[in-house]
Amino acid sequence: MPVLVVVGAQWGDEGKGKLVHYLSRSAHAVVRYQGGNNAGHTVVHRGETLALHLLPSGILLPGKVGVLAHGVVISPRGLLEEIRFVKKKKISVRGRLRISLGAHVVMPYHMRLDALRETTERPLGTTRRGIGPCYIDKVARRGIQMADFIDPPAFRKKLDFALESNAAELRRLGKPAQLKKEALRGYRRMAEELRPYCVDTVEYLHQGLSSGKRILFEGAQGVMLDLDVGTYPFVTSSSPVAGGACVGAGLAPRQLDRVLGVAKAYTTRVGAGPFPTEMPAGMAGALREKAGEYGATTGRPRRIGWLDLVQLRRAVKVGGLESLALTKLDVLSGIHPLKICVAYRFRGKPVAHFPVSQSMQFAVEPVYELLPGFSGNIRGLREFGKLPPQAKSYVRRVERLLNLPISFISTGPGAGELILRGPKVW
Ligand code: GDP
Ligand code: IMO
Ligand code: MG
Repeated sequence: MPVLVVVGAQWGDEGKGKLVHYLSRSAHAVVRYQGGNNAGHTVVHRGETLALHLLPSGILLPGKVGVLAHGVVISPRGLLEEIRFVKKKKISVRGRLRISLGAHVVMPYHMRLDALRETTERPLGTTRRGIGPCYIDKVARRGIQMADFIDPPAFRKKLDFALESNAAELRRLGKPAQLKKEALRGYRRMAEELRPYCVDTVEYLHQGLSSGKRILFEGAQGVMLDLDVGTYPFVTSSSPVAGGACVGAGLAPRQLDRVLGVAKAYTTRVGAGPFPTEMPAGMAGALREKAGEYGATTGRPRRIGWLDLVQLRRAVKVGGLESLALTKLDVLSGIHPLKICVAYRFRGKPVAHFPVSQSMQFAVEPVYELLPGFSGNIRGLREFGKLPPQAKSYVRRVERLLNLPISFISTGPGAGELILRGPKVW
């Protein structure tokens, strides 16, 4: 089983980084296939807590290759900062990082447009990293790819075209000459620094697979933030679902062997949008402080809610999930009772599935099943048998209601703070 895709099953921040860091031990390469530095993946590496935004989490482990496939959007400045950041931790990515020549480049005007839209139009609560505007340019076929970025004459041409063809909107940011100057600031050095990493990652991955290498795909964001199947328009502009790995890295669907979803034992979301099981402010605040629920990228407080099985059932279907890693179970200790949303009601009537309509997503009322809570410190536990009986019941109930095996239970942020259950996933 050489290929595993790790996908966020909720609205992001499920603990994908921790799982990928753990699973990377048995991978040859770890691949990001969508998103950009809107992601914030936290890992505890050699006892230190680090958040990575663009570099795949596996790059922290010696000898592992990190791949940024063509589906990723890359801020050259952000990436170089991150390369320097890990270098300070004595981790060199030299010879171990592969950036797709086809990946699109996040330009300074993308970031400015993102911020401008957030302040002048309907705010979505984006990370303001320029992700949406960069993907818009990609779809509008005026984007700049890494192949252009590392080729100065091509870059200048593409930049002129991008600025001209989107002139009307960009004028809101300032004079075209000013925008161009900004885009060219530090350009030569960045292009030089990134050039050695840029390759055809499709050929690299296919070659690896044909020689039996094990490849791990690290999804960013989560299924409910997917552009197509998430809570549109309160979504990101890429496809975090497992299918996104095929499109975003150039693999055939049959080449993905396994898909592991990652879900918190409760739910969080950052930014605007529907959130049926959101807790009242007081309770959410207490849990936020206890669990440190602040964004790894923007530092914003995360909204908090109960576990939502209607949402998760949808994620299992559209995300392609075959088993689940349930994270942060330790956080639920001391909460009595525990609530699981098992159904929704809309205008008094039961709703069978997570609704597609935005107005319904905002209006549905959760129906909860109450389970007895558990107490005591389960942090770092590694054996299912040692969990308090109520914690076991919670896990088993979720597993039954979802009809999906829970293969991992995370009991702390550290890579080893993990319970493995059932047959090996990968
Ligand atoms: P990602 O974006 O999916 O990688 O998740 P984030 O890193 O944004 O957020 C997850 C947070 O939960 C991070 O601070 C992790 O260190 C932390 N975390 C992950 N798993 C566990 C766990 O089982 N227990 C606790 N207490 N914290 C965890
Ligand atoms: P990881 O990979 C949580 C959210 C933003 C906003 C929406 C659109 O760490 O799980 P964008 O900047 O992408 O245009 O913002 O998506 N969002 C995330 N929320 N975790 C993330 O990444 C996210 N990346 C984007 O908060 O609601
Ligand atoms: Mg995150």
